[in-house]
Amino acid sequence: MVKETLYRYKDIIPDFDTFLQAIKSRRITTVRWNPHKVARKELIEELKECFAHVESISWYKDGFRLGYVEKPGKTLYHALGHYYIQEESAMAAALALAPKKHSLVLDMCAAPGGKTTQLSALMENTGTVVANDKAIARLKSLVANVSRLACVNVIVSWNDATKLDTSERFDYVLVDAPCTAEGNLQNKITLMPRETRETLSSLQKALLKKACELTKPNGTIVYCTCTFAPEENERVVAAILEEQEVKIEKIGISVPHEKGLESFGKEFYGEELKKAIRIYPHHLNSGGAFIAKLKKKG
Ligand SMILES: C[S@@+](CC[C@H](N)C(=O)[O-])C[C@H]1O[C@@H](n2cnc3c(N)ncnc32)[C@H](O)[C@@H]1O
Repeated sequence: MVKETLYRYKDIIPDFDTFLQAIKSRRITTVRWNPHKVARKELIEELKECFAHVESISWYKDGFRLGYVEKPGKTLYHALGHYYIQEESAMAAALALAPKKHSLVLDMCAAPGGKTTQLSALMENTGTVVANDKAIARLKSLVANVSRLACVNVIVSWNDATKLDTSERFDYVLVDAPCTAEGNLQNKITLMPRETRETLSSLQKALLKKACELTKPNGTIVYCTCTFAPEENERVVAAILEEQEVKIEKIGISVPHEKGLESFGKEFYGEELKKAIRIYPHHLNSGGAFIAKLKKKG
């Protein structure tokens, strides 16, 4: 088995040396305000009481940078559900989906609930979020987080999302797909074998295909991963654009990013894929993320 390194991305990642540095460096802790439990102003006071450095995230006012913190979960306010510890890059996908209040939302791969609880917050605890995951062990933390943060508009379900069988159709669907998680590699700079990437790519495509099926006409789908591999990102979205009644849309959030790729090696994905976004570790001193937003045709 040939192990590859991050150098396979040398030609597609601008500032590659800065990227490599950021991959290995220690990450700052970021947290997200939970509006169901506390006022934003009060949370700021609570965070200042517990941590030396508290700074609102410039592109997302409900997220806070705490600097280098050892145990951000060991506070009373965390136990009370006043905030959720979440990578800064991971805060972007729910914002890209931007569900309206009172809507019906499906989070296909939801555990441990970072994006589910954020969707619930964006919807101000109205409407319904069906938070699904296949892994029973991970459902425990999903249920615990939903309960700690008092997300009363969330229903938890345990299914293989590729086989979800329901006549219900959703206004918004989030596919936070299982992936090789290269964006969270840090010091482990050797990558997963190519075979793993290919297997995941097929699963990701099946998940996104099911998402299209379960979305209402004119509904919105967000596909995201925390990996850099184009095989798990642009390739998956390009295949779905070919075969499903969906189009790709621009993502209207101001998070620092690079555009999605038109091609990689011998694979051509198309100019439209530039509407997707790639967040690299050096953009935010956070993990990596790929996000694409699709609209189902009416
Ligand atoms: C990237 S994690 C999700 C993180 C989560 N959205 C969050 O923000 O906290 C991917 C999840 O996909 C789940 N998963 C893998 N295959 C699945 C499938 N076929 N159906 C549903 N969930 C699946 C995994 O158990 C894992 O919890």
